[in-house]
Amino acid sequence: MTDKPGRRCFVAGHRGLLGSAVVRALAANGYPDPIVRTRDELDLLDQRGVQRFFREEKPDVVFVAAARVGGINANNTYRWDFLFQNLVIETNILGSALETGVGRVVFFGSSCIYPRVAPQPIKEEYLLTGELEPTNEPYAIAKIAGLKLVEAATSQFGREWVSLMPTNLYGPNDNFDLQTSHVLPALIRKFHEAKEARANGQPATVNVWGTGMAQREFLHVDDAASAALMMMESGVTGLYNVGYGSDVSIKELADTIARVVGYDGPVEWDRSKPDGTPRKLMDSSLIRSRGWSPKITLEDGIRSTYEWYLSTQNEPARMAS
Ligand SMILES: NC(=O)c1ccc[n+]([C@@H]2O[C@H](COP(=O)([O-])OP(=O)(O)OC[C@H]3O[C@@H](n4cnc5c(N)ncnc54)[C@H](OP(=O)(O)O)[C@@H]3O)[C@@H](O)[C@H]2O)c1
Repeated sequence: MTDKPGRRCFVAGHRGLLGSAVVRALAANGYPDPIVRTRDELDLLDQRGVQRFFREEKPDVVFVAAARVGGINANNTYRWDFLFQNLVIETNILGSALETGVGRVVFFGSSCIYPRVAPQPIKEEYLLTGELEPTNEPYAIAKIAGLKLVEAATSQFGREWVSLMPTNLYGPNDNFDLQTSHVLPALIRKFHEAKEARANGQPATVNVWGTGMAQREFLHVDDAASAALMMMESGVTGLYNVGYGSDVSIKELADTIARVVGYDGPVEWDRSKPDGTPRKLMDSSLIRSRGWSPKITLEDGIRSTYEWYLSTQNEPARMAS
């Protein structure tokens, strides 16, 4: 290791929601440009390619933010792909990182690694204490294998590798495709499009799945990236939840998004659609005890994400005051 770790950081998945936030955090904290590769330049499913890349580039820090990700439908339909591709991406990256002496790795998973029914808020120690949610079990098993590899690299080889499990993330580079997006970006888009339609004299209603009663936790991706940087720099090992610390109902989320977007038309709750798990809140006291805390409130985060979304639409931001 160099004295200050991270002079040669490799961010795997740098074009994704989380990977791009890690790249921004490195730049904001004075790190040299990280090593990055697009999928065309380096397919992380290609073991030999990944080995060659590590031997040539010799990164000293790796952030594993590349994964095959998707919503419930994709997870449940492409069960082989989610298990196989995530296992292969992880073993390729972590195997090459071990072989080439990478001292620090930050590996990202998600809250779906925890049992389907767990006391709330969810603590790290609940891992492997109950059955997983069947719809995303392949993804969860791959991520559990990844964090166990990270744990074993520490116990067997003394590496300062750490696993972070963020809650639901949102922010710039989020996915706004209504077929595959998560609830927060989907609602930003729906409220925005309904506002535009009404401004053009067309009737519009925002349709939201479920009753609005389900409680969810949301963290701005820049806060997750700041956690990743802090944990990498301190060289701690283990498994840490990374959450905002409180949750909101989907109804509260929709109200906040409507306010930020400036939509004052009707909202229809489609009660024929499932709410999903009533509540999913992470206990992030462990990482907080190490000095990290989120800085971006939900409303501020939604506001800046909406600005980013508008900037991708090639139109001037028209925010509600
Ligand atoms: N989003 C959330 O709410 C959330 C919450 C908790 C945890 N996480 C975790 O954060 C990590 C990243 O998630 P994300 O939301 O940032 O996903 P994302 O936006 O879909 O980004 C994933 C990245 O991985 C890259 N990738 C996938 N397969 C690849 C391959 N075979 N070769 C090269 N690159 C490949 C993708 O490249 P392309 O750009 O070419 O597709 C993309 O840049 C995941 O482990 C996820 O579990 C996310």
